Amino acid sequence: MRVAFVGKGGSGKTTLSSLFARYTARAGGPVVAIDADINQHLGLALGLSPARLPAPLGAGITAIKDYLRGDNPRIPSAAAMVKTTPPGSGSRLITIDDPYFTRHHTTTLPELGGLALMITGPFNEDDLGVACYHSKVGAVELYLNHLIDGPGEHVIVDMTAGGDSFASGMFTRFDMTYLVAEPTRQGIGVYHQYAEHARDYQVPLAVIGNKIHTPEDVDFLRRHVGDALLVTLPHSPAIRAMEQGHPFTLDDLEPQGHHALAILKDHLDATPKDWAKFGRQTIEFHTRNAHAWANRATGQDLLQQIDHDFVYGRRPTLATG
Ligand SMILES: Nc1ncnc2c1ncn2[C@@H]1O[C@H](COP(=O)(O)OP(=O)(O)O)[C@@H](O)[C@H]1O
Ligand SMILES: [Mg+2]
Repeated sequence: MRVAFVGKGGSGKTTLSSLFARYTARAGGPVVAIDADINQHLGLALGLSPARLPAPLGAGITAIKDYLRGDNPRIPSAAAMVKTTPPGSGSRLITIDDPYFTRHHTTTLPELGGLALMITGPFNEDDLGVACYHSKVGAVELYLNHLIDGPGEHVIVDMTAGGDSFASGMFTRFDMTYLVAEPTRQGIGVYHQYAEHARDYQVPLAVIGNKIHTPEDVDFLRRHVGDALLVTLPHSPAIRAMEQGHPFTLDDLEPQGHHALAILKDHLDATPKDWAKFGRQTIEFHTRNAHAWANRATGQDLLQQIDHDFVYGRRPTLATG
């Protein structure tokens, strides 16, 4: 299963992604956590020193494209591959323990049950433009488009909410999206923007109310997002202490936090996987990107890259390389 944590900057995306990643890894089964947030803090939130961070995906995008295109004849070069280029016959489909990504772009955390961290590397608002086909977040999109994840496996992405993920289709690459919202007008503003896109593309979306101080905070969220509100998390002294540099493990988190994480995991795991929809939307967004900018940018007709016989969901045979 794949899940994205989105929301306004400062709402708690990184905090919640890191807690959920710790929780899911402790529950067993492989976990890949990916930092695709504009401020790269997920490693820190997982207790990693900067020296232990993996090589950023953004810096290796050309090699990643070469790896993923494999010997797909429709994609003759990395330069012809944009972030929405779909896999087809000959492409390299990958599993959550893919050896290339593990070797070149992952830090494995034995202290957190073998949790694997990948990072896009730092980017800024300019990198989020629609036409940026070497975008760092594009590396994550390509990864997700070639990944065949199975039950009991979790990919958790800490993600910037906004224009680029809507334009490229990135927001449709998940089985579930958790929108982290503080009980403020700004918090629910981001929710309404996201919910509109989500509805148009049947993207399952649930809200995590974060930094709750009073019952009125919960009422406020309930009034504005209704049944989309899945869980609420109180303002947490344990999280604050972690932020102040105290060593942190899940055991330090308050019971309400544990309860919320359990609900998030159950809700995600109970969500049906829809590979057919995933495949349709892969093609839909690639087509849109080709027309919008990518044909012009590459000087090619990128619609030729679409392999209409390709079917998502079949487990790839063990990847090599
Ligand atoms: N439930 C919480 N209780 C206390 N502090 C929190 C909570 N959630 C987040 N924070 C704090 O809020 C700040 C922003 O959180 P962060 O996860 O970095 O947000 P984002 O990734 O959305 O920008 C951090 O200082 C974090 O420690
Ligand atoms: Mg963040």
